[in-house]
Amino acid sequence: MQFVAPAEQYDRFMGRYAPTLAAALADAAGVSAGMRVLDVGCGPGGLTRELVARVGAGNVVAIDPAPQFTAACHDRNPGTEVCEGVAEALPWAEAEFDAVLSALVLGFMRDPDQGVREMARVTCPGGTVAACMWDLATGGMTMLRVFWSAVRQFTPGVEGERRMAGTAEGDIVERFGRAGLEDVSGGALNARADYAGFDDFWEPFTFAVGPSGQYLHALPAEQQARVRDACRAALPDEAFSLDARAWYARGAVPAALPRADRA
Ligand SMILES: C[S@@+](CC[C@H](N)C(=O)[O-])C[C@H]1O[C@@H](n2cnc3c(N)ncnc32)[C@H](O)[C@@H]1O
Repeated sequence: MQFVAPAEQYDRFMGRYAPTLAAALADAAGVSAGMRVLDVGCGPGGLTRELVARVGAGNVVAIDPAPQFTAACHDRNPGTEVCEGVAEALPWAEAEFDAVLSALVLGFMRDPDQGVREMARVTCPGGTVAACMWDLATGGMTMLRVFWSAVRQFTPGVEGERRMAGTAEGDIVERFGRAGLEDVSGGALNARADYAGFDDFWEPFTFAVGPSGQYLHALPAEQQARVRDACRAALPDEAFSLDARAWYARGAVPAALPRADRA
């Protein structure tokens, strides 16, 4: 899926979860000083910022296909190399990085398994590959659960985002195993975001940043209003915070993985 929204709209829609999610993923991947690290699908740079804080800007490289996001990521993380491209065809040689991370991207890739194979290919033997996606299958991402539950009150059976790659428990772990990664483990990461009130929650959906906002955008105005009212009924009037669970996996690149299996 192509992201065309400006970085500032992404910030208000999903970027507000980045500080807590990025720290949790970087912890899970064991990112620490001295590593050279790649952020795949960096968006406007929420995870990139966390990686820069841990290993320094000169040791972080980031890539994303959306030019407005790579520009924002570069501006927000001076000294970091940021380029345009996709996970399925990473423009680096084998074994260039100590750790390769990706937050909330697998489900948007045209070929997620190829994306994982590429992440493994550019990671050095013994290095770490880690990725996460929101728990959309069982609704652990509260913001999106509230939205899709509201939609299903009027249109039962709408699939929404729950079949996207990586959004069910264990899916990323399985993909990592298929890619030949070793010592694969996974579990839940917990993130959180604050909202000044209902309007602060609702307005970003109207920006059509991701699949939920694009679904809303395609509805007639009266149906949009019904979804909004159903969301409002599910949320407090005053300021509130929402929890968000993501599924993650991490794995190690084996020393003896044959080149043909890693490309
Ligand atoms: C939900 S955003 C996540 C951005 C960022 N990682 C974060 O955590 O905020 C999904 C990102 O994946 C990028 N993307 C979509 N398809 C991709 C692909 N095939 N390879 C790499 N990135 C991709 C989009 O441009 C977008 O920036």
